[in-house]
Amino acid sequence: MPRKEKFYLTTPIYYTNGLPHIGHTYTTVVADVVRRYKRMRGYEVVMTTGTDEHGVNVERAAKKAGVPESEFVARMATAWRELWNELGLSADEFVRTTDLKHVRTVQWLFKLCKENGYVYKGHYTGQYCIYDNAFVNDAKPGDNCPDCGRPTETVTEENYFFKLSAFQKPLLDFYQKNPAFIQPETRKNEIISFVESGLKDLSITRTTIRWGIPVPGEEPHVFYVWFDALTAYLSAVGGPEYEQRGMWPADVHLVGKDIIRFHTVYWPAFLMAAMLPVPKQVWAHGWFLMDASKMSKSKGNVVLPRPIANMLGMDALRYFLLRDVVFGQDGNFSYDALVTRYNSDLANGLGNLASRTAAMIERNFAGRLPKLGPRQPQDDALANETQSAIGEVLERYENMEFARALEAIWAVIGAADKYLTTEQPWALGDSEADTQRKAAILWTTAELLRIVTALAHPVLPESTTKVWSLLGQPGAVSGIELEGLRWGQLAADVQLGKAQALFPRVDKTEAIERIEAMANEEQNPQAAPAAAPAAATSSSSGAAAAPAVSEKIGIEDFAKVEMRVGQIKTAERIVGADKLLKLTVDIGTEIRQICAGIAQYYEPEALVGRKVAVVTNLAPRKLRGVESNGMIIAASVGPEGRPVLAGFSEDVEVGARLK
Ligand code: MSP
Repeated sequence: MPRKEKFYLTTPIYYTNGLPHIGHTYTTVVADVVRRYKRMRGYEVVMTTGTDEHGVNVERAAKKAGVPESEFVARMATAWRELWNELGLSADEFVRTTDLKHVRTVQWLFKLCKENGYVYKGHYTGQYCIYDNAFVNDAKPGDNCPDCGRPTETVTEENYFFKLSAFQKPLLDFYQKNPAFIQPETRKNEIISFVESGLKDLSITRTTIRWGIPVPGEEPHVFYVWFDALTAYLSAVGGPEYEQRGMWPADVHLVGKDIIRFHTVYWPAFLMAAMLPVPKQVWAHGWFLMDASKMSKSKGNVVLPRPIANMLGMDALRYFLLRDVVFGQDGNFSYDALVTRYNSDLANGLGNLASRTAAMIERNFAGRLPKLGPRQPQDDALANETQSAIGEVLERYENMEFARALEAIWAVIGAADKYLTTEQPWALGDSEADTQRKAAILWTTAELLRIVTALAHPVLPESTTKVWSLLGQPGAVSGIELEGLRWGQLAADVQLGKAQALFPRVDKTEAIERIEAMANEEQNPQAAPAAAPAAATSSSSGAAAAPAVSEKIGIEDFAKVEMRVGQIKTAERIVGADKLLKLTVDIGTEIRQICAGIAQYYEPEALVGRKVAVVTNLAPRKLRGVESNGMIIAASVGPEGRPVLAGFSEDVEVGARLK
């Protein structure tokens, strides 16, 4: 079998003096989306990430933590790796710059540059902070150290220099011949004018830093951190033996705009000097800002990914990062915008369309996806709209226009909502003609949903997998070849899969409070009171989450709540409220009607006879117009808040009080 075309993409390797925030998560999410998209386009894809573990900052952080550097970076690398795993973002290769294979690659690259005449020994003069043992880049004589504020001194040290000046013309020629190398276009001019203004040779070794990769035979020289770090892209895919792996050169390096110069000037120059192939593209994205300034640990304004993923699910975070900001530009991060998008586009948009379609197929065709019968022009119009969206979405993905790709997908979802509102399948009866019409409408909606699911998969891997199995479609959605995606390929006459909650609606204020409480706890584990793992509840009244910060209550407060053992007598679905079940429950003294937000997880028939814990003295209220007189207790499990009914492992009498 011929080998698939390869695609190699990278995230930067992250500094180990802190843990990932939304800014880092953004680059990694984009890489993961591109990886999934390219796989669905038939490429053999390798995505790499890693940790940048050398340098004076790590030396300092390890000292502060009172542990040797090697131990400090090992802990940090584990923490980064674990968090990426937890967020579903683990790369195919994870490079640590302290890995032996990386050390070998850096030393090899240096040797090649030296053998080709681009490295020489010289002296570097700069402003040095004797308290911090570090050169202060860009400082002039008389400047103070930006870290400790004390005066810097002018110091000269012996260094190896890289002849960057020799690459001015080769780089400019290269940019001209490869117009797509620097992306977005707006960054290109900035780099070209920097190179045109003249390149100074670059010091690539240091003798004032201990914690670095040694220059063989030249101790105490260690490599300058950027010479070391950039080489990670090559060591990830074979290092000196890169040809065997067949992945080099990289197809795209994804980076933030702050590090574009290192990637588009230094890195290609090092590779040209070593006569190695140069990457095909560097794509620089903007920053996520918090109150208009770049997030940073030292400013204390970082947003953490884990609390958001816990509260709303990782798909929601991925969607927000890509949908709200044009890739390449800066964007402001706000929890308010995040939760608003979640409720409008995910809960009310995709989630609602999927659960409504499935519920109608369930009700009208006993859960079997109908075959398409005679069609009407409006069915064809929706088909055409969806079909032409496919091309547009693929083109947008290809150009890294994620916000516009998602916009085009969501336009199709909007069209489906409109179509259902006009066609009103629920108003049709059971005659042969009406049944055929219902089949056509539901087939059309299901087919649209299948296409939307495949197109959204790179961005929403978890939820689209659920929709795919809900639609009873064969294989995995990740295995769909986007190239061949067409209207009309729906596998019909199949049984729908089990309904699973996709994006339960949340109450904005409560959701934000909970995210912030979890973030607070993660940042100050001792100071913050424990927040229960968050859960978006599936109750129809929005999130009924527990208070984010739990106060202690006295026994007299607890005694106010009356809870009893109840037994479910009947259970049925409520038309138009796909999350709610209407139950009648025997609580010993009377039979109560209670609504419970568990319809997506429990079949009504399976509940009859089951003993449950009921809050019996709750004021009655109406949910979707149906009176509910009491509350059934359930655990809220996992990031989606899957309800699991509380029950009893021993036989208990109906009506017994829980104390
Ligand atoms: N270690 C270097 C990269 C070496 S690559 C050979 C480094 N590390 S970093 O941890 O500081 O940053 C890594 C990436 O995260 C950069 O691309 C940076 O732009 C990105 N972000 C860090 N904060 C960010 C935001 N607030 N918003 C978006 N991305 C930002 O630089």
